[in-house]
Amino acid sequence: MFPTSSFVVDVHSHFYPERYISLLRSRKTSPRITENNQLLILPSEDTSSPQGRPIRPEYSDMDSRLNFMNTHAIDHSIISLANPWVSFLDSDEARKLSSEINCDLFSLSSPRISAFGCLPISVPDIVEELGNIKRLGLKGVILGTSGVGKGLDDPDFLPVFSELERLGIIAFIHPHFGVGDIYGDRNNGHVLPLALGFPFETTVAVTRLILSGTFDKFPKLKILLAHSGGVLPYLYGRIDSCVMHDPQVNNRLKELPSYYLKNNFFYDAVGYSQENLELLRSFVGDEGILFGTDYPFFPPLNSAPEWQSVNMNKRAISSQDSEFVLKAMGRNAEKIFDLT
Ligand code: URA
Ligand code: ZN
Repeated sequence: MFPTSSFVVDVHSHFYPERYISLLRSRKTSPRITENNQLLILPSEDTSSPQGRPIRPEYSDMDSRLNFMNTHAIDHSIISLANPWVSFLDSDEARKLSSEINCDLFSLSSPRISAFGCLPISVPDIVEELGNIKRLGLKGVILGTSGVGKGLDDPDFLPVFSELERLGIIAFIHPHFGVGDIYGDRNNGHVLPLALGFPFETTVAVTRLILSGTFDKFPKLKILLAHSGGVLPYLYGRIDSCVMHDPQVNNRLKELPSYYLKNNFFYDAVGYSQENLELLRSFVGDEGILFGTDYPFFPPLNSAPEWQSVNMNKRAISSQDSEFVLKAMGRNAEKIFDLT
């Protein structure tokens, strides 16, 4: 059963500060908000159908968010800017906007709200902004899978991981670009990019990151993975085996990939099924799984007050024993992000 007295924390919850909304409204290409209030974010959305999703008050209005949190018995949310963050800007604009947004997020902090900062798009700017994020006391950073354009295993990106480890800042790795969108649009809405593209993108980016040896260089580095780590909990054995049997790679790492996946990573519980959660739990144990909602995405298609997307994840967690429920719903997040 779901213990009603537990402290519930949502670690995967997006927020668009007003200045970001205004910028998106001013743009003519994706990401943008159209005259009909459609939010276009995914790479293919200017040309595919349906074009975007309606932008609703939930995206940027704190009262709507608090109502949502009350409806779903969420005590605390760690909010983060949603994809594609500031990645579509030039370097100077990205530096300025990410720093302003981090101040916006800081000013929204309250006993019920804290935030992950966002990052600019060049390595020196990121390293500098990490210092700012630390000073503001934000709870971590949200990080896309492309690094500064050449992936998270780009050797030039290493100073970012070095600084994350040095400052003890957790990176929340979140997808945006998708993978394998090769045959074009067949009127499948957002199902392929969101259900498959996102988790596979995370899986590829994180496998590459592990193979680059980054966790041997920075063994204290901690990462939170979106969407329950994509298919990593399902494929880790295959990844380990391929490393063991590849002459080019088998001596490269101190440990097998699954070691890093168990020791350097936390996972949100945004997997939408009991089986998915049980697989994740059997792989990483009970201390590294954290409830999330992906709010304001996946709202009900009717105007029901309760969100099925949220309840699916809550139901999966509440199918487990009560000690695990307490940890996954909030206690793990309280501890990891020092929320008390
Ligand atoms: N769609 C997005 O673009 N981002 C999310 O986080 C969820 C759905
Ligand atoms: Zn998300």
